[in-house]
Amino acid sequence: MMKTELIKVDPKRPDPRVMERAGGIIRSGGLVAFPTETVYGLGGDGLRADSSAKIYQAKGRPSDNPLIIHIAKTSDLYRVAAQVPDEAVALAKSFWPGPLTMIFPKTSEVPYETTGGLDSVAVRMPDHPAALALIRAAGGYVAAPSANRSGRPSPTLAAHVAEDLDGKIDMIIDGGMVGIGLESTIVDLTERTPVILRPGAVSREMLRAHLERVDVDPGLLGTDDSRPPRAPGMRYRHYAPRAPLVIVEGAEAEVAAYVDALAREAEKTGQRAGILASDETAGLYTAGLIKSIGSRVSESDIARHLYQTLREFDQEQVTCIYSEAFHTPSMGQAIMNRLLKAAGHRVVRVPDDGDRD
Ligand code: TXA
Ligand code: MG
Repeated sequence: MMKTELIKVDPKRPDPRVMERAGGIIRSGGLVAFPTETVYGLGGDGLRADSSAKIYQAKGRPSDNPLIIHIAKTSDLYRVAAQVPDEAVALAKSFWPGPLTMIFPKTSEVPYETTGGLDSVAVRMPDHPAALALIRAAGGYVAAPSANRSGRPSPTLAAHVAEDLDGKIDMIIDGGMVGIGLESTIVDLTERTPVILRPGAVSREMLRAHLERVDVDPGLLGTDDSRPPRAPGMRYRHYAPRAPLVIVEGAEAEVAAYVDALAREAEKTGQRAGILASDETAGLYTAGLIKSIGSRVSESDIARHLYQTLREFDQEQVTCIYSEAFHTPSMGQAIMNRLLKAAGHRVVRVPDDGDRD
């Protein structure tokens, strides 16, 4: 065990002395967790093989799962990316800093320890003053996966990082709650047609404004075992709360009645069901531990609260979780992708009146 220092900063104007010190830790091979606009990241020097090895160890993550290199200015891209197509320059102009990660062929400067043995490298520029200040102070290239223990929901608060990594890393920079709450969109630009490997706040429609074509990795749909997702990290059962989670699809009233019956059944045998509902539906349930993720009219609230709510269910030690589905217009793909992974793709469809004969 090492001592993990926890330091609060103003997320809009982080203290330059703190950021300088944190950057020094990374430059000398240490690990610092920091806020980004998506989720908290666990940062090490992306150009140092030993730092990446430490990241895998702290997270308990398989070392074939590549890390994202975070940069603070677009011109720094060329040191780690061997080819940068024009489309990438256009995407960087529109979406950086922001929740978009792009994959390029790597240069020899990037150690295989950072890319999980791949010849490609993932790069993004986060939209967060503390993250950008840290990257600059650390020398420009911060490898950072989400700052959770492997298999746990990604952290949206510094307290989540401490829960998972206290005693395993040098420092945690507390910048309060993140803005988006789901990890960045990943687009692979090493193929002739760009492919989305992980959906995020930058939607396919937003990418289409800049790309002639953009496909979605068929492995993401998760219905066909013969096509594993292409991003190694998307293959693992991820984002998972400790209790088994089931997504219940259908009309509001029918979903509530179905889940209520199961929650009452669970209580009879000394179990406790967690129910992931929304502001609009929370009042329809009468049993179990009911948590609202936010209003259905605000998809950004739903995205922002998803991981935190899953962690809360863990803390309350529920024995099973039932979740409504959240097919929202722009971020719905990203939200449902994470929820389906958390559920290990267990989905029940409750027929509504219209479905019945
Ligand atoms: O929003 C985010 O992207 C956050 C914050 C901290 O920036 N980071 C993050 O990192 O989500 P991580 O390590 O939890 O997820 C990175 C994903 C993994 O699924 C990994 O397999 C994929 O990116 N990935 C990284 N490099 C890749 C590559 N060269 N080819 C294919 N997939 C890659
Ligand atoms: Mg992660």
